[in-house]
Parts: sequence; C-alpha cells; structure tokens
Amino acid sequence: MRVYTSKAELCAFISKESTSTFSLGFVPTMGALHAGHLSLVNAALAQNNLVVVSIFVNPTQFDNPNDLNTYPRTLEEDIQLLETLSKTTIVVYAPSIDDIYGSEMDSERFDFGGLELQMEGKFRTGHFDGVGTIVKHLFEIVKPDNAYFGEKDFQQLQIIKKMVEITQLSVNVIGCPIEREPNGLAMSSRNIRLSIEEKETAALIYKILQSVKEKFRYENHTDISNWVTTQFTNHPLFELEYFQISDSINLVPIQQKNQSKTYRAFIAVFARDVRLIDNIALN
Ligand code: PAF
Repeated sequence: MRVYTSKAELCAFISKESTSTFSLGFVPTMGALHAGHLSLVNAALAQNNLVVVSIFVNPTQFDNPNDLNTYPRTLEEDIQLLETLSKTTIVVYAPSIDDIYGSEMDSERFDFGGLELQMEGKFRTGHFDGVGTIVKHLFEIVKPDNAYFGEKDFQQLQIIKKMVEITQLSVNVIGCPIEREPNGLAMSSRNIRLSIEEKETAALIYKILQSVKEKFRYENHTDISNWVTTQFTNHPLFELEYFQISDSINLVPIQQKNQSKTYRAFIAVFARDVRLIDNIALN
C-alpha cells in the first residue's frame, strides 16, 4: 500500500493516476481506525477508482490538551486494516503537522450560519474552526470528487457541507450511517480507552436514544429532556454534558414540533474522562 507523508508526493501520484473519467474518493480520519471508518472506505471504494485515506490527528480542533495527548495513534495497525480492503486502490496520506500547517498552526475563522453555535460548538471552543480549517486544507491538497463522513459526527457533517458551499470547492460531501458495536454503542476511536465493563455500560447511551425516539411520538421535548437527565443523575460512570433535540437541517433546538420538519436527538456524555457522542433520527 502506498503511504505518503508529504503532500507534494501525494499530489504527484494522484495527478499521474487521474484520467478524464477517473473518480477520486476521500476519507479524512484521525486514525485509530475501526469498522465505522472501514464502512466509509468501503462506500468510497464502491463509487471511485482510487481512494485517499488521510490519517492526521489535527491539533487545531482540540480544545482540551488532555484529549489531544491521549487521542489514540495507531498508524501501523491502521495501515494493516486498510490493506484488508485493498492494497492497490487505497492510498494513505499520513502527514506531519508541518506538512499541513507549515510554521503557523492557525485556524481560519468561519461563519457556518449558526451551525457552529450549537452543541459541540458550545462545549468545544474553536472546535469547528479547526475542523473547517483542516478539511479545507485536505480538500485543497487531495482535490477529491467525493468525500465521505460518518453521521456519528452529524453536526460536523452539516458544517463540512456548509464549508464546501461557502468556499465553493467542488467536492461532493457524502454522509454515511453510524456503525455500532453489537450492544449498540456507536463506534468511535475513543472507545479504545474504555474497559470491557465500561463499553458494556456505555450501551446505555444508544438505549436511551432509542427510548427518546419512541417517546418523541407522543411526549413533548421538555419532558423527554428531563427524563434523559434523570437517567444520568448520580450515574456511577457517566456525566451528561448535553442532550438536545434539534431540527436536522439547521440544528436549532426544537421549540414546538412541526410535522413538516425532521428532527434528531443529540447526546454527549463523559465516561470518566472519555467523551462520547451519539445521535439518532427521530422522524
Ligand atoms: O471526524 C474526524 O475524524 C475529524 O474531525 C476529521 C473530519 C478527520 C478532521 O480532522
């Protein structure tokens, strides 16, 4: 498998491969790959001639230095996993910080039309400017036709679609369904940091979301939010950071249910110092 650490070499390879009918897929990741990432790569392989997978833990999107330092880095295992899918049609781009940012590791400031003010944006200062900055850099380097993102980070997916609209980059952004462990826990690179018992306990997050979906048919959103809060009150493992039911297009919190709109429930909880997020479509 080709693994590039320099954008110049990656770009040289891509331009050598591309023809007029060629389609390039792109899966940006921060590594510690799991079945969720592999489902994105498989979707990309099914729709493109060549797929670039970037592996880069992007410092500008972390508001918490401890989260950045403890973020799992498993490049060798990641490459081995990707090789199980294809050795020839996947190319890995694993750059250094310098290759991406040069001497100035700054985030661009974006106006995502209010999407950035909700949920993750409220609780992780500067996070979406960091995500927008790195994804824009990567899109400009890789120049993909299609780029694939998981719906686990649903707000991020909406933000990236908005970034593409603002910057007028010609990339088709494709959202892919959340992959889950057999017990329902959403797959995440951070799950590696949970013990086996904690992973079992964390199945509660998705169970709660499923109950929320059921309750949403006949209960009002305030009662549902209160019910979710009580599920975590005095919990031995979890601390609830937020629970929110939002319009799934603009992510604004629901005020009154409107039958013509679609809604999603979003949740973030800490299991000790491990931050887990999940979401579910409600209608
Ligand atoms: O979802 C992620 O893993 C990251 O936020 C991304 C999109 C690769 C940008 O660093």
